Amino acid sequence: MNEALYNSQELLNNAVEVVYAAGAFIRSNRKKVLQEDIEEKGTNSLVSFVDKTTEKILVEGLRLLIPEAGFITEEDMVTQGKKTWTWVIDPLDGTTNFLHDIPVFSVSVALLFEDNPEIAIVYEVVGDEMFTAIKNKGAFLNSLPIRVTSETNTKNVLFGTGFPYEKDNLTNGHLDVLQKVLLHSRGIRRMGSAAVDLCYVACGRFGVFYETDLNSWDVAAGGLIVQEAGGLVSSLYGTQSWLTGENILACAPGLEKETLWLMQDFRKS
Ligand code: IPD
Ligand code: CA
Ligand code: CA
Repeated sequence: MNEALYNSQELLNNAVEVVYAAGAFIRSNRKKVLQEDIEEKGTNSLVSFVDKTTEKILVEGLRLLIPEAGFITEEDMVTQGKKTWTWVIDPLDGTTNFLHDIPVFSVSVALLFEDNPEIAIVYEVVGDEMFTAIKNKGAFLNSLPIRVTSETNTKNVLFGTGFPYEKDNLTNGHLDVLQKVLLHSRGIRRMGSAAVDLCYVACGRFGVFYETDLNSWDVAAGGLIVQEAGGLVSSLYGTQSWLTGENILACAPGLEKETLWLMQDFRKS
């Protein structure tokens, strides 16, 4: 990052305040969304005024921090576009949970500098857990440093995953991998917020997270938080490209070899 223009720690501190404000808005609207407020953007992909207004709160606050930055946001409340600095925002990750009053949903904000995540914030609203990272400066949960697990056996860790909303995208590969992971892990959790899943890998609650059919706003912040907590983030095939969210694997380094073996069946999808 261009330190002469922007100090990354100051930017993070200020962005965290904006995210707390967004989280407060989401919290104040729990159980207030009526059935008629809910739209279906695509199969099972829901949205309400809470997602949209939260996005506006984030955009207005973050725009003040870097006036020339671009925005990539899920709800399209602002002109989309990449610039030298770009905020990548999912205002409410876990909308389905939110609308069903399941208390796992988050605000996810990443700042890219020339396509690379530099700053990451994921705020799990109900648990009041603020996960943050700055590139090369470590990852934190409520200001305390976090690390991925040191486990080396997948049988001793939990896996997080999710499933595509579009059921046509659910392949035999997904089901075969699921079966294999169930046999070779302590179990699987489907939290319903990919950003939270990634943060759970970062702080060692999960050993591994994998998913397909995500978008950059689901993974940009959580991916950097995993890396800064000492974890590995890649595509499901172990290559570098994960930022699009098309498919992603995040794990502790000691679990990488076995996990890539477990993911092999995705290749036949
Ligand atoms: C969803 C969540 C979920 C994942 C979905 C995402 P949304 O985001 O991250 O865990 O499985 O694919 O779309 O729609 O709640 O922002
Ligand atoms: Ca999302
Ligand atoms: Ca969302």
